[in-house]
Amino acid sequence: MTVACTPTRSVPARATQGGREQSFITGETMLNFLRRTLVTATIVLAGVGGAACAQTSAPAASGPYEPRVGQPGKDVIWVPTPQALVDRMLDLARLTPGDRLVDLGSGDGRTVITAAKRGAAAHGIEFNPDMVALARRQAQAEGVSERATFEQGDIFRVDFSDATVVTLFLLPHLNLKLRPILLDMAPGTRIVSNTYDMGEWEPDERVELHEDCTSFCRAMKWIVPAKVAGTWMLDGRKLELTQSFQRIDGTLRDDAAMRPIREARLEGARIRFVVGDDRYVGQVDGDRMHGTVNGSRPWQAVRSGA
Ligand SMILES: C[S@@+](CC[C@H](N)C(=O)[O-])C[C@H]1O[C@@H](n2cnc3c(N)ncnc32)[C@H](O)[C@@H]1O
Repeated sequence: MTVACTPTRSVPARATQGGREQSFITGETMLNFLRRTLVTATIVLAGVGGAACAQTSAPAASGPYEPRVGQPGKDVIWVPTPQALVDRMLDLARLTPGDRLVDLGSGDGRTVITAAKRGAAAHGIEFNPDMVALARRQAQAEGVSERATFEQGDIFRVDFSDATVVTLFLLPHLNLKLRPILLDMAPGTRIVSNTYDMGEWEPDERVELHEDCTSFCRAMKWIVPAKVAGTWMLDGRKLELTQSFQRIDGTLRDDAAMRPIREARLEGARIRFVVGDDRYVGQVDGDRMHGTVNGSRPWQAVRSGA
């Protein structure tokens, strides 16, 4: 791969690649990071180096492919997640050997390879074919190429709906574009993002590294919530639920009274709420829910009309 640079007169907020505008301004933190640390990188923005650079796919004249931190990517530049944060992100996801992890924009493959070393089936989707080849070589060298696989593709076109864990290090507007796709994944799927959030979908958990990490040291986790908004019949009473991501609210009504639910929350397919003195805990399974009240008495609910 080569990087071609053309002189520019002023500091650009955006670089153009293949007729597409690549926004750096929305990834302001990334931009600042690059300004601080990548003075010698080839993708130096005009304010620093007087050039805007566009990636081309021609192979390097000699030697193995060497990626450059800050090199352009399709929708976002390549900046690797610090290994210490990769480790914490997988801890945050509570990754197990039974998981199928997908890293969206997998770069040099470090998250996928680390997940595979923990026994999970891990897969990277990366637009840059040179990075895909590099990641495959690294997986081979680390002895995990059977569990760590990579494909060249666009994260907005490849189907990754069977993943149980999704990791990403993109930009805020890309996270928002992915959000509806992520919310349609199976309840309980864990999403872990380096640095950037999901707008008003609040994270279920966060971590911040204070050691072995100088930039991009935060990560957040979201658990895809089951879809429960609507009317349910709960043991002969009407349960009306509203939902905003993992937050739920509502009422339980019978002939005698209508009572609000309190302390209500979804964690994947697990639901809990309190009505009066009764603490409901249960599991959502499509159009059915079931569980126990106050730890012993069973309850069940069916979606009205189901
Ligand atoms: C900030 S880097 C993160 C790399 C890796 N996930 C990590 O955490 O080390 C983002 C990666 O996404 C890739 N990328 C950008 N847009 C993409 C797209 N639409 N589809 C697939 N990969 C993309 C870039 O080439 C780059 O390798």
